This record gives sequence, C-alpha cells and structure tokens, in this order.
Amino acid sequence: MDGGALIGHGTFGCVFDPPLHVISRITGNCEKLNTTGKTIGKISESEEVHNEIEAAKYLSKIPNSALYLTLANLNNIHRPCEIKEQVDIPSLEKCPIVQKSRMSHMLHFTMPHSGMDLSSYFNIHMKTKTLIPFEKVVIHLLEGVSLLHLNNYVHYDIHSNNILFDDTTKMPRIIDFGFSFSVTNLDKKTLDTRWKVYSPDYPSEAPELTAIQGIRHKLSLNTVIYDIITKKNPLKMAQFVLGLSMRDQEESFRAFWNKSKSIQEADWVNFFKYYWPGFDSWCIGIIILKMYSNIAQLPLYTKDPSWKSLSKRIKDILRLLLRMNPLERIDCIEALYMFHPESEILKSDTASTWIQDREAFRKPIRI
Ligand SMILES: Nc1ncnc2c1ncn2[C@@H]1O[C@H](COP(=O)(O)OP(=O)(O)O)[C@@H](O)[C@H]1O
Ligand SMILES: [Mg+2]
Repeated sequence: MDGGALIGHGTFGCVFDPPLHVISRITGNCEKLNTTGKTIGKISESEEVHNEIEAAKYLSKIPNSALYLTLANLNNIHRPCEIKEQVDIPSLEKCPIVQKSRMSHMLHFTMPHSGMDLSSYFNIHMKTKTLIPFEKVVIHLLEGVSLLHLNNYVHYDIHSNNILFDDTTKMPRIIDFGFSFSVTNLDKKTLDTRWKVYSPDYPSEAPELTAIQGIRHKLSLNTVIYDIITKKNPLKMAQFVLGLSMRDQEESFRAFWNKSKSIQEADWVNFFKYYWPGFDSWCIGIIILKMYSNIAQLPLYTKDPSWKSLSKRIKDILRLLLRMNPLERIDCIEALYMFHPESEILKSDTASTWIQDREAFRKPIRI
C-alpha cells in the first residue's frame, strides 16, 4: 500500500493503516515516519491525544495490560505538517476531524493494529455459523476493566466500536483512551473537559452521568428521569431479557438521587471520586447484554449442554451490572469475582481488599 488508508474513524479521531506517510515535524522539517510491523496511526486533536498519552504512560507499566488494552506508542507522537505538505491527502481529506480542525491542533501517534470491531466480528461469526468462545470473551472483558479499576483509571467511552477483537488471540481489547482519566488526581479542571452533551438515548452512558448532564443543562429531575426511562433502550432490553423491572429501576434511581449528598450539593468531583467504577461497568454490562441477546437465539450455542448454566451465570451478573441506581450496581471486579473467581487478576492484595470492602458495603443493602 502506498499511503495511509483511512480504516476507521469516530467523531474525534481517524485511524490509518499504515500510518500516514509524510506527517510530522520530527526534526523541524516534514519527514516520513518510519514504522514497522503491524502498526497503525491515529490523528486526533491534541487534547484527546494528551489523554491517550497519559493513559499509555501509566497503564502500559501494568503487567499484561497489552492483553486487554491498546495503548499509544510513546516513542512515536508527532505534530502533523499542514495538509499541503502531506502525501496521503486523499485519505486525510475524508477524515471528519481534519475537516473541522487545523492540523496545528492535532497530533499523530502510532499503536499496534488490534483487529476488528466487535459488531463486525460478531456479524462474521453469525454469517459463517462459527462459535465465539463467549464465556472466555466475557471473562476477558471483565478482566480488562478490572485492571483499570484496580489502577484507579476510567476509560469513560466504552462502546462496541471501542472494543476490537485481536486477529491472533481472538480476544477483545479496549481501544481509544481519548476521554480516559485517572481518579487519583481528579479535580474540577479535569472534569470540566469531560462533560458531554445531554443525550438520554445514548445507550453506553451510565444513567447517573446522563442525569448529571441534564441537571447541568437546567432540566428538572422529572424530565431527566422520564427521558432516561423512555429513551435509554438497554433498560427496556434489561427488562425483557433479564426481568429487571423498569418501574423498580426508576423508583430506586429517584430515591438514590434524592438522598445523595454530593448530588444535592452538585459536588460532581466528589460524586465522580465515589461512583467512578460504575461508569465503565455499566458500559461493559451493555456490551455483554447485546452479545448475550444475539447468542441466546442461536442453536449453535444454546444446544450445548453447558448453555443453561452459562446463561444463568451471565444473567446473574448482568442483573447487577445494569442497575440504574449506582449504589446497587456492581463493578467489574465484583462481577469477575462472581463469574470467574479463579481469575489471575483477582490474585493481588489490592484485588482482595477491593472485594472485601465491597462485600462489607453490600451486606446491609442485600438483606
Ligand atoms: N489499534 C487499532 N487497530 C485496528 N483498528 C483500529 C485501532 N484503533 C482504532 N481503530 C479503528 O478506528 C476506529 C476509530 O478509532 P478510535 O480510536 O475509536 O477513534 P475516535 O476517538 O474517533 O472514536 C475504531 O472504531 C476502529 O474501527
Ligand atoms: Mg472510538
């Protein structure tokens, strides 16, 4: 291939395989990037790339993180040259963020090629009627987010386009750390860069986050709850597939909202510092629910003698991951402990303490 072909984009970035050719002011001049192996390039606004870099600096040090997360290569981050100096102009011009923003506001970085997005991967398997090791995939997803939890990190943008299936391991990896943040030093300044627009119909946003955006836009609690209940489709799906009553969910969410001190005081930093594990856990719940709903209709999976027990175990964790009330929602470490207590990820002291703390906290609630 001659230049970087655009292989994917979201609202904020574009991904090229191979990385763009003449791209960066490496030595003050525009130079060709020298990359080898299965490397791709992403161009995005500096602020998002900064978040990717912070995540890579911190998370790449964690043993085995590369099995679960695709992080930026810290040795290959450059400011792109202006469009007229680029070789790969046709693909660059197709990139939505390049159409909106100046090249001087962007950065280009490389990362390992990480395979195919979840929906395409599933469609191919559905068409060819080949099995996906569903139980292993669920464990891998829970382990990946548990790793983030144990390191006080929030991805904050987990949805099916940000989950890629590795060509070799056939396991899912989480990509796109453009919105991620560490909870350790979280302050108002960081939070102010993370607010999204109010979109109650966006499935992959925990209900409490949608509600906060609505309240920040001066909507009443009744309006916000009505919008969430009527527009957030996974709630309907959870009622249908898991028997989670929407009426009970609504009631419990309202009670939580009226009782929470940080919500009453609009102290969002404290709210985030306490409830952050639930944000990514909700998104993982949605992803597993969607996969489960598809798979549960296919005899290829359901005729297996182990299906009944697997199906029950999956539904058990989903009923707790998809609670609207953040106090009732379990996080991915708790879900992993229920679903696969033998996981290596749970063997550290930090994980044991986490589980003990959560069990002590849950006890009075579950009575
Ligand atoms: N490491 C990767 N390997 C293969 N494809 C990728 C990789 N990173 C991103 N992509 C593809 O490019 C798309 C956009 O990348 P992403 O990082 O999610 O950008 P955005 O910030 O705009 O959402 C992804 O949904 C995926 O299809
Ligand atoms: Mg993305």
